Amino acid sequence: MSYYNGKRVLITGAGSGIGALMARELASRGAEVIVTARRIEAARKVSREIRKQGGRAIPMLLDVSDLDSIPAFRDRLHDKAGPVDILINNAGVVFGGEFEKVGLAEHLNTLQINTMGLVAMSHAFMDDLLQATRGHLVNICSASAFVALPYGSTYAASKWAVLGFSESLRLEMKERGVDNVAVTTVCPSYIDTGMFEGVRNPLFTPMLSPQKVVRSILRATKHGEALVQEPMIVRSLDLLKGALPRPVWDEVSLRTGVASSMKSWKGKH
Ligand SMILES: NC(=O)c1ccc[n+]([C@@H]2O[C@H](COP(=O)([O-])OP(=O)(O)OC[C@H]3O[C@@H](n4cnc5c(N)ncnc54)[C@H](OP(=O)(O)O)[C@@H]3O)[C@@H](O)[C@H]2O)c1
Repeated sequence: MSYYNGKRVLITGAGSGIGALMARELASRGAEVIVTARRIEAARKVSREIRKQGGRAIPMLLDVSDLDSIPAFRDRLHDKAGPVDILINNAGVVFGGEFEKVGLAEHLNTLQINTMGLVAMSHAFMDDLLQATRGHLVNICSASAFVALPYGSTYAASKWAVLGFSESLRLEMKERGVDNVAVTTVCPSYIDTGMFEGVRNPLFTPMLSPQKVVRSILRATKHGEALVQEPMIVRSLDLLKGALPRPVWDEVSLRTGVASSMKSWKGKH
């Protein structure tokens, strides 16, 4: 029997991309999936597909940028289904371009959704996880949490913050002697979902397939692993950044194409 069988999993931003794929994969492994999206039609569509395959899914409207609505959302979910075992904070946005040419509203929205929304969701559902036999908090971060990302500065900032938040919470659980809650931070480079349409992949970082990333996330969550870093090269970023003098590290970023990868970003819309 699958590890996920009988678990209730809440996924934010599950109307598309890896969120929708995780929902389908988890449902096929016997989980009851709370498919949330800021457009209810998107959540309903994914849920319908899951049910057609014999899985269990509940579509719910959730805009994680509306921080004040989150406790009421949790109460509605508790009435409808009950507490969750796994929270996957997946919702995210990106707006690429030269810093001053991207609107301030877009920059602030990036931080609000990717960071503040994630913190507010984790806060609202932490009691559920603490009361679960085995609770999991899975935060979808990014490889950009380890590097500077020109033309995507607020996206990188939002993910650096998520990495710091997530790793601190993981260690806090350890220090508090909480052994039934695992915190996993997921840091992939570019994934072929359309979110980063137009980017030029840096050296040694091929576009990842959503299926591969989702397989890694589900495996790491099951084993309570702290970090998912895809592809392999992402695992060496911390070491390289720490070891190399900053001007040399800058040169590495420039020459491998990391620094210019977002220059040609178009995104989905
Ligand atoms: N694609 C990559 O290269 C890549 C790499 C590293 C990390 N990530 C991270 O992976 C996660 C999923 O991204 P993806 O690649 O699957 O792209 P995606 O298909 O665009 O997924 C992002 C999802 O978040 C939703 N969302 C945006 N704002 C929201 C809000 N305020 N409330 C609730 N949901 C909201 C989007 O809904 P709408 O459809 O309504 O916009 C969308 O369904 C993101 O956190 C992203 O930062 C992606």
